Amino acid sequence: MDIEALIRPNIRRLKPYRSARQDYTSGILLDANENAFGSAVMFDGLELNRYPDPSQKQLRSRIAQLHNVQPENIFVGVGSDEVIDLLIRIFCEPRLDSVVILEPTYGVYRVAADVNDITVNSSLLTDEFQIDPDDVQRTSDANTKLIFCCSPNNPTGNLLRRQDILDLCAVTQAIVVVDEAYVDFAQTESLIGALSQFPNLVVLRTLSKAWGLAAIRLGYALAHPLIVSYLMKAKAPYNINALTSMEALKALERADHVQQSVASTIAERKRLFRELERVACVQRVFPSDANFLLVHVTDARALHQRLAQRGVIVRDRSSEPKLANCIRISVGTPGQNDTLLTALKEFDK
Ligand SMILES: Cc1ncc(COP(=O)(O)O)c(C=O)c1O
Repeated sequence: MDIEALIRPNIRRLKPYRSARQDYTSGILLDANENAFGSAVMFDGLELNRYPDPSQKQLRSRIAQLHNVQPENIFVGVGSDEVIDLLIRIFCEPRLDSVVILEPTYGVYRVAADVNDITVNSSLLTDEFQIDPDDVQRTSDANTKLIFCCSPNNPTGNLLRRQDILDLCAVTQAIVVVDEAYVDFAQTESLIGALSQFPNLVVLRTLSKAWGLAAIRLGYALAHPLIVSYLMKAKAPYNINALTSMEALKALERADHVQQSVASTIAERKRLFRELERVACVQRVFPSDANFLLVHVTDARALHQRLAQRGVIVRDRSSEPKLANCIRISVGTPGQNDTLLTALKEFDK
């Protein structure tokens, strides 16, 4: 498959900006109009007056090591949200190309496409929230450049069948983007292992969920080196700031913390599932492989409002296809979940 042919012609031709810090990082640095007299504040005793490494060598190597791939397979972004936007920008020609999304799903795919003036074709997931391969084929055309698969899917919580994704990679002429933001909660094999087999597969990961680092904004793509090289060309020169890099590098040494927080989340997810099934206004709790539960209730809007009045904020997903009267509840701490359950049981009275 000729991945390069899928890249927008202007991006193929692009002569990227060459940042000063790409060439030199030591010496008497008078090349980047930084402040030689130091920074207004320090972080952990470090000056912050120099621009960070534009190619994030250390961070990309560390992430590559974590997943047993090469640094050339890793692109880091300001959250996976930045990666989603950049993938659209390098592959999709505005007002000409399209992306396919499998709804109901994470809303950013559609918004990012809309911002870039890219047509969004929606293929509905089946009633079990699985891929409908024939429908994806019908929904795609010669101008479809990206197909977004979210697994485990937000907001339904389930994993998409692995074989369906692999089959899609094999038959489509587009790039298949598998967003694995929640995969750590699923205790399943990642699609990363299939990267060497499918050059059109891109896997997205984030430090915002299992690693508990939503505030630092770090997400990444694992992909064929050619795709990574075009993402690197098109990104803002210093997209990842030094503080984020430093904290991410520290965090990546704390796999033990992730294991613990995933175990606690899964234990609470199971308890919440059982308890929610006993609540009268709950009609169905959907099985989840993520850190949230999708719950079908009698009146989502009313429930959302009444919970908010008690300071418990959940997400009403009722406006999404196939999700009438569904709310999404993130798994909280045992105490937070108790408060939620108490409030829900009061409504039953
Ligand atoms: C499926 C999915 N992908 C990506 C993200 C965003 O990740 P990040 O914080 O890395 O931008 C979210 C956030 O909720 C999500 O649900």
